[in-house]
Amino acid sequence: MLRQLAFAAFLALATAVTNETNTYEYIVVGSGPGGGPVAANLARAGHTVLLLEAGDDQSQNVNVSQLMNFNIAANDEKTRWDFFVNHTDDDLGYNHMVYRKPDGGFYTGLTPPTGAKRLGIWYPRTGTLGGCAMHNGAVVSLPADSEWNYIANITGDDGWLSKNIRPHYMRMENNLDIPKTDSTHGFKGWLNISLGDTTWVNGNADAVALASKAANLTGYPPGSPAQLKQLMDRDINADDPNRDQTVGIFGSWSHSSKEGYRSSPGYYIRDTIKDAAKYPLTLQLNSLVTKVIFDNTTKGAPTAIGVEYLRGQYLYGADPRVGTSKKGVPGKAYATKEVIIAGGAFNSPQILMLSGIGPAEELKKFNIPVVVDSPGVGANLDDNYEASVASLAARDFQGAANIFFVFLKTAQSQGNRDVHMWCGQFSFEGFWPGFPDDMGPKQYECTFVHMNPRSQKGWVKLRSADPLDTPDINFKFWEKNSDKDLSAMMEAIKFARNIVQDAPPGLGPFTEIHPCKHANCTDTETRDFIKKQVYSHHATSTCAIGGDNDKMAVLDSKFRVRGVKGLRVVDASAFPHVPGSFPVIPTIVLSEKASYDILQGLKQ
Ligand SMILES: Cc1cc2nc3c(=O)[nH]c(=O)nc-3n(C[C@H](O)[C@H](O)[C@H](O)COP(=O)(O)OP(=O)(O)OC[C@H]3O[C@@H](n4cnc5c(N)ncnc54)[C@H](O)[C@@H]3O)c2cc1C
Ligand SMILES: *[C@@H]1O[C@H](CO)[C@@H](O)[C@H](O)[C@H]1NC(C)=O
Ligand SMILES: *[C@@H]1O[C@H](CO)[C@@H](O)[C@H](O)[C@H]1NC(C)=O
Ligand SMILES: *[C@@H]1O[C@H](CO)[C@@H](O)[C@H](O)[C@H]1NC(C)=O
Ligand SMILES: *[C@@H]1O[C@H](CO)[C@@H](O)[C@H](O)[C@H]1NC(C)=O
Ligand SMILES: *[C@@H]1O[C@H](CO)[C@@H](O)[C@H](O)[C@H]1NC(C)=O
Ligand SMILES: *[C@@H]1O[C@H](CO)[C@@H](O)[C@H](O)[C@H]1NC(C)=O
Ligand SMILES: *[C@@H]1O[C@H](CO)[C@@H](O)[C@H](O)[C@H]1NC(C)=O
Ligand SMILES: *[C@@H]1O[C@H](CO)[C@@H](O)[C@H](O)[C@H]1NC(C)=O
Repeated sequence: MLRQLAFAAFLALATAVTNETNTYEYIVVGSGPGGGPVAANLARAGHTVLLLEAGDDQSQNVNVSQLMNFNIAANDEKTRWDFFVNHTDDDLGYNHMVYRKPDGGFYTGLTPPTGAKRLGIWYPRTGTLGGCAMHNGAVVSLPADSEWNYIANITGDDGWLSKNIRPHYMRMENNLDIPKTDSTHGFKGWLNISLGDTTWVNGNADAVALASKAANLTGYPPGSPAQLKQLMDRDINADDPNRDQTVGIFGSWSHSSKEGYRSSPGYYIRDTIKDAAKYPLTLQLNSLVTKVIFDNTTKGAPTAIGVEYLRGQYLYGADPRVGTSKKGVPGKAYATKEVIIAGGAFNSPQILMLSGIGPAEELKKFNIPVVVDSPGVGANLDDNYEASVASLAARDFQGAANIFFVFLKTAQSQGNRDVHMWCGQFSFEGFWPGFPDDMGPKQYECTFVHMNPRSQKGWVKLRSADPLDTPDINFKFWEKNSDKDLSAMMEAIKFARNIVQDAPPGLGPFTEIHPCKHANCTDTETRDFIKKQVYSHHATSTCAIGGDNDKMAVLDSKFRVRGVKGLRVVDASAFPHVPGSFPVIPTIVLSEKASYDILQGLKQ
């Protein structure tokens, strides 16, 4: 306790003392999986870094530090940022539409009380040290090798080939379950990665029956618990040419310690500033960056030389406590080398647009002087589609709520497995304030992420020139070629229904709650349900990397913002497409790569 107090006092000091000239070699904006690692790595390489984070430090809040609390964390107003988005131009059939009631509270549902104002679909994010890696499910899964190779292909930069990406992954990895003799994994990195307990297959008969069925449906013969455990203990991130086609059940890998403590960029940053004498990282919390400052007199193109920010608590419109605090105090900070933007897929394009980098017509609407007409900023918003089958068993489950993963390769696959599902005694059907529903001790759900979607045309646009306003966000689901994505999701739903079908007498028969409350659910009904009730929470690609001749490419292959100097974007918005099934590890790997590219660049 004393040690904790001393450390808290030290942190307060470390964050209060800023460079008198407010000048650093690097300024990083946002401390999530994108910004956190690059800020810490540059400081560990000896460079002065100012890390500006809009939120505060909740890393010791048990909602955050203990992974099992992740749903509570996503609801915690101390970390939460509420974005309200549109999925399509007409979301009125969405079961979890959110309204503001006249008394100030939220209403979620299809029949709002009179006087309630429609807000949109709640999309969770954080405004806190460590970003969304402080409240996420912490699922660890690399995208297909071909997804990295695609970036190499469109940019001609071999640094993106999956074989060259692996070392960046291994550098940050501290794998707690793979034998240390494995030369394709890292054991000295800063991110703890572990496999959740799989010994339950020896005892939890109800959960085992359903996991065995999933194994059978994916082509594995009936086996003993030991054989089931062998499947579950497979290396989800194996450096194996067959990995991206491998289907079947897996255990749950997460960025946490064996004891269930969350590991995240937030803790890496704290570990780095603990050693302030050694590592010149300055963390400034409660600082919302509003604009990049350019020197327009530099040869060739304007150069980013610093940022403007507002200092204060709960300033941003997405903060549930907005308006309860004083107005922010304006400040400026300067960078002698570079400014790195890492506000995430909604905030990075907003910061660029507020700074004059974006589609010229959009900027003109708000009288923002154009620095670079870059039509790709805020365009190309991408996300994994998600849906689920929720059902009730015939009796209460006996045994703990153990979960397992299943990978599927549907008939719509573009070469790789394209569904990542997870099943267990939980309820999760998307996001709304107060989610998820609790359906009691009979609940069972298989929920899934559809990878590599191809039917979205989403965007993030400014609503106003006020940096405290949240942007206007529309995912534009089902805009093009929606048949293929819908069919892939149909197949996943049918698979999930099969898992609970023929459950052992007593536990079964199951009663479906969603998509259909009746047993004879038709394909048309199921499709309609998917189309209307689909959800997502892995937004990316709003400041995408692309080739030199692609006018929609906001960044070059080294994360540099095209059209200016001294400015990069390093976060999930840089991916040309949403990577794999879970973006947190890809984003951390991307940040490790950016650290490497920046440090290599200094040597040239
Ligand atoms: C509820 C939930 C569960 C998830 N579960 C998983 C999972 O299990 N596995 C997985 O792989 N992915 C998961 N994700 C997604 C994953 O967490 C994100 O893709 C990832 O965090 C993106 O990292 P980022 O750095 O791009 O952005 P973020 O994590 O959003 O970080 C951005 C940071 O920038 C700060 N910031 C923003 N604007 C400004 C500004 N103007 N000035 C200063 N600071 C600013 C924010 O406060 C935040 O700290 C989940 C996401 C959510 C919301
Ligand atoms: C402070 O600013 C000066 C002036 O640019 C810079 O050279 C120096 O590295 C900075 N020091 C720290 C500790 O941030
Ligand atoms: C955890 O989050 C809940 C809301 O989801 C909140 O009521 C509670 O106060 C939080 N706990 C802590 C320790 O902050
Ligand atoms: C959703 O779209 C409607 C118009 O179709 C618009 O009025 C509303 O502001 C949008 N909501 C959000 C949260 O962007
Ligand atoms: C990218 O892929 C296309 C199609 O497979 C191929 O023709 C092209 O040569 C590749 N380009 C690079 C730079 O690898
Ligand atoms: C799955 O179970 C069915 C029914 O018991 C059986 O016929 C089939 O052979 C099993 N599949 C595999 C791959 O073992
Ligand atoms: C990783 O786990 C170790 C041991 O539990 C802990 O000391 C360390 O802080 C963790 N690192 C991170 C970044 O969470
Ligand atoms: C640089 O030019 C942009 C676009 O005209 C302008 O908004 C900005 O204020 C200029 N910067 C400085 C330091 O004058
Ligand atoms: C499904 O069956 C129920 C009775 O079990 C019936 O009421 C309903 O009309 C049927 N629905 C369809 C779409 O066939």
